[in-house]
Amino acid sequence: MARLLITGGAGFIGSHTCLVLLEAGHELVVLDNYANSSPEALRRVVELAGPGAEGRLQVIEGDIRRSADLERAFAEGASTEAELDAVIHFAGLKAVGESVAQPLRYWDVNVSGSQHLLAAMAAHGCRTLVFSSSATLYGYPETVPIPESAPIQPINPYGYTKAAVEQMLRDVAASEPGWRIASLRYFNPVGAHPSGRIGEDPNGVPNNLFPFISQVAVGRREQVQVFGGDWPTRDGSGVRDYIHVMDLAEGHLAALKALLSGGDQLLQLNLGSGQGHSVLEVIAAFAQACGRTIPYEVVARRPGDAATTVADATAAAKTLGWRTQRDLASICRDGWCWQSNNPQGYPKLS
Ligand code: NAD
Ligand code: WQD
Repeated sequence: MARLLITGGAGFIGSHTCLVLLEAGHELVVLDNYANSSPEALRRVVELAGPGAEGRLQVIEGDIRRSADLERAFAEGASTEAELDAVIHFAGLKAVGESVAQPLRYWDVNVSGSQHLLAAMAAHGCRTLVFSSSATLYGYPETVPIPESAPIQPINPYGYTKAAVEQMLRDVAASEPGWRIASLRYFNPVGAHPSGRIGEDPNGVPNNLFPFISQVAVGRREQVQVFGGDWPTRDGSGVRDYIHVMDLAEGHLAALKALLSGGDQLLQLNLGSGQGHSVLEVIAAFAQACGRTIPYEVVARRPGDAATTVADATAAAKTLGWRTQRDLASICRDGWCWQSNNPQGYPKLS
């Protein structure tokens, strides 16, 4: 059992990971300001984790940029004998278009927020960190499947903030012994817990394909726009590496185990399935899962998109002993279970 601080633990990936961590017996303190999430997600996580879980999840509403909130979280997580064992750092902003319109907000939350967190960790002698990085770092990839050695060449402010935090982590790891850090570069996290109780609940119009398709399926939106039918791919639509959020959550557990069982480490690993699916294939798989037609039209390409991004997932398999277990059909089945049971997402607090 480890005592862990989970920043952004109420969010999409954080909530699923909290569940997996509770099921593995860990004690958690979540720090989240609910900028893009609902307290209801963590209530449901506790319910899913079953008897005894409630006492192992403390929630602090607060901001990673505020030292006082971080101090509360570290105090809450410490036992009488020891500080927190590790931090999993999900908190951040993630919308590419918004990052172009509001770059300073992205640098503030993602980069300055991470800097404050690292300072608090150092002050408390907690030097084990799992960080939510992103395949967005690779920009327009030159080699597919993309290995971790591919050049870091972001193409938008969001990507630059992730690249900056990864660099900060390399600098910190090199500055003194004792740091154990994993930057996990997620590909396209989608799907939901199979219970349909927790899932992705974007604010406003979804930017990403999967929640958009789900909302069309449930009748909240009319049709999917397929961004480009003339990509150099097998059917002309864009190809991505979609990873079930439960596989991703288990990847965090594997990374944590690897860090906590070893000496100084700096891991930079892709978390993906290694398989690519086109937009049209995802639409067809979702239609199959929900038993409904998903109307779509092919429109112009979206600026900033690449034709194909697929992970070379071999390093994570070798280093963590982790690989994805769930296929596109399971992703769509579980995503539909969440969307059909929660057509408007989590209940909104008035
Ligand atoms: P999310 O928005 O659902 O979760 C992020 C959480 O952080 C939310 O609960 C939000 O309220 C919280 N948060 C935001 N700013 C905060 C602050 N200043 N202080 C405290 N909490 C704050 O997003 P997600 O999809 O769960 O992503 C989690 C992490 O993974 C992010 O860092 C994101 O950049 C990264 N990531 C996500 C994807 C993806 O496609 N979902 C892909 C690659 C990387
Ligand atoms: C997937 C495919 C689109 C919407 C983004 C971020 C990345 C990472 C994951 C955080 C592409 C097509 C999409 C739609 C469509 N997030 N599409 N119609 O762009 O691969 O990655 O999320 O780190 O940084 O950039 O994901 O879901 O937006 O797009 O045709 O309405 O679906 O062109 O081929 P993307 P996505």
